[in-house]
Amino acid sequence: MITAEDRNLIWHDVVIRREDIEKMNNHRGATVWFTGLSGSGKSTVADYVARILHARGVHTAILDGDNIRQGLNNDLGFSHEDRTENIRRIGEVAKLFTSFGTLNLLAFISPYTTDRDHARSIQGDGDFVEVYVDAPLEVAEERDPKGLYKKARAGIIPSFTGISAPYEVPEKPEVHLHTDKQTPKESAIQVIRKLEEMGIIPGE
Ligand code: ADX
Repeated sequence: MITAEDRNLIWHDVVIRREDIEKMNNHRGATVWFTGLSGSGKSTVADYVARILHARGVHTAILDGDNIRQGLNNDLGFSHEDRTENIRRIGEVAKLFTSFGTLNLLAFISPYTTDRDHARSIQGDGDFVEVYVDAPLEVAEERDPKGLYKKARAGIIPSFTGISAPYEVPEKPEVHLHTDKQTPKESAIQVIRKLEEMGIIPGE
């Protein structure tokens, strides 16, 4: 592997340190990574968590696959290779934001375990909270909020996660939601309790 030194790159240290920002914010920076099928409720729960945290004075940033793919990652499609690159880039963005003390809420299908594990590995211990947004395929397909499952079944959209592309279930997520049985509010509260328990945000 070519090192940074080989490429004449020298890391520039920031003047305002993460600890200084976290002290000012009264919460830690971290990345909450929502993974699950399309239609499982990732964005809905992330939005709910963001609303509650905002009201509690927590600095959040929502990064959502559908949005990021219309800007930063608009050169990427849905092959295995492109999804891996999508997750690699956004993992780096999340790491940067975490270093600025922000609580990041990421909603990406992120179907491959190795990609999620890589995103975790580049963050510090306790900075990465994996949330498995679990809804059975039948439920996600029944919801079909964007009409994409119908198109995937008709063969109009190729490589669609759950239909013609894989989704690898997280083995040890910090949080496991069952959005077919829980309301978005209940799911959001489960995530928030975990953040309190991990000392990322203060308790109420
Ligand atoms: S990921 O697999 O690379 O993590 P990402 O979360 O960024 O996916 O984008 C998923 C969104 O793209 C879905 O919510 C859906 O709206 C849209 N989409 C378009 N084509 C596909 C496809 N083939 N598979 C899954 N999602 C798709």
